[in-house]
Amino acid sequence: MALKNINPTQTNAWKNLSAHFEGIKGTHLRTLFTDNPNRKEDYTINFNDFSIDLSKNRIDDTTLKNLVSLAEETELKDAISQYFGGEEINETEGRAVLHTALRNQSKIPVLVDGVDVMPEVNKTLQKIQDFTNEVVSGNWKGYTNKSITDVVNIGIGGSDLGPDMVVDALKYYKNHLNVHFVSNIDGDHVQEIIKNLNTETTLFVIVSKTFTTQETITNASTIRKWFLESANEDAIRKHFVAVSTNLKSVQEFGVDSNNIFTMWNWVGGRFSLWSTVGLSISLAVGFDNFNQLLKGAHEMDNHFKDTAFDKNIPVLLALIGIWYNNFFESETEVILPYSQYLNKLSAYLQQAIMESNGKSVDRNGDKIDYQTGSIVWGSAGTNAQHAFMQLVHQGTKLIPADFIGFKNSLYGNQEHHEKLMANFYAQSQAMAEGKMKEEVVADPKLLPFKVFDGNKPSNTILIKNLTPLNLGSLITMYEHKIFVQGVIWNIFSYDQFGVELGKELAHKIYTAK
Ligand code: F6P
Repeated sequence: MALKNINPTQTNAWKNLSAHFEGIKGTHLRTLFTDNPNRKEDYTINFNDFSIDLSKNRIDDTTLKNLVSLAEETELKDAISQYFGGEEINETEGRAVLHTALRNQSKIPVLVDGVDVMPEVNKTLQKIQDFTNEVVSGNWKGYTNKSITDVVNIGIGGSDLGPDMVVDALKYYKNHLNVHFVSNIDGDHVQEIIKNLNTETTLFVIVSKTFTTQETITNASTIRKWFLESANEDAIRKHFVAVSTNLKSVQEFGVDSNNIFTMWNWVGGRFSLWSTVGLSISLAVGFDNFNQLLKGAHEMDNHFKDTAFDKNIPVLLALIGIWYNNFFESETEVILPYSQYLNKLSAYLQQAIMESNGKSVDRNGDKIDYQTGSIVWGSAGTNAQHAFMQLVHQGTKLIPADFIGFKNSLYGNQEHHEKLMANFYAQSQAMAEGKMKEEVVADPKLLPFKVFDGNKPSNTILIKNLTPLNLGSLITMYEHKIFVQGVIWNIFSYDQFGVELGKELAHKIYTAK
């Protein structure tokens, strides 16, 4: 089986959406709210600790109906069953896309080429758990018989961004281990990390699916050399572990075979934090919390798989994203988590979204004449308000926003939290409502500058608490949004050939020097 090959712009739904767009594009969000006093309730979806308010979007029931028809006409249902069913939907690389199997906490088998992968997945999880317990408890000793105090994750892209973002996001749950991340091939990066570390108490986790990535191998070799200045070869097995599919190269690097954590080619780098790539997460917060993260992901997987499209969170977010991208011609989306813990979320999503859907050739191999993946950016509110929100409110571009907030703060500082959340609600309200000429009190000369047109769309994602479980669901929500958009745009979301040319040229330039 393969994903169907349907040009979305040739569907009836697309034609209906185009006609409908002409009618609704001039309608202000203020009017939509006045016309339906229950709009907020009508357009809010609840799921576990999540409440997703879609009411501040430039949509009505007809928009949603047409968007859902677009999903149906592009055979999204069939695509979802191929995705979860282990079909080779990463056709250009000849692979299944099964990060969902990594958090499959049901007893249902997941077949790849007729073989259930779950026994291997569970065995590997057990290995992560055992290793985590050894290191966290202090039983794992370094070459001078001291326990580990620091962990360095050496990786880049999907072997860095996910774990780094999650370790930061779950800082509240962390144990005594200090986890550091080295990614850039800039030698100053690695130097800044190792300069304060003690070889006797540091564990290095080399994470590279391919084990050929220049940045990671260079950083790992530099660290190995630095390590051997104070320890001997035999000490390596107590301080270096590796996560990879390329077992041969890992062994050649000198990592002890017991210290190799395998992964599978059906896990894409940017969706791999649920796998052994998440080892540094498990070390930072303990295996139970890591497992909660997986559980949250699994719950969102079930919601996505089993819920009708008109109530399905990732499906609706994807469709609304397409509505702005392809009809309103917005080019970017801003991610605004109102939590300092999620400061790295947009950097993580940049890879997940842009490496997946930044494609301009369809599943036929033909050049596409419509827009695909949008540009993603953002940072934590309220800092963003004092940086780029001016452009969002009064600039010339339409930038849909995702506001992500939590009902409760982790340390319970009420005064701060109430102020934070007042800002969270104020920003989406200001974007939606704006401030009309008649409402502005100002010197007439300044009046035009103080008007806010409003009608700027946003999603409000309100979550009870920042827990490992809810974080797992949140990340998964975006993973499936990516999938849905890729299916509808008729592109292959799970390859990344666009990163290769730069790598090749860098190699040529470097070797010619
Ligand atoms: O940037 C390209 C890429 O292949 C990403 O998709 C991947 O996450 C990253 O490089 C790292 O790859 P690896 O884990 O094989 O070192």
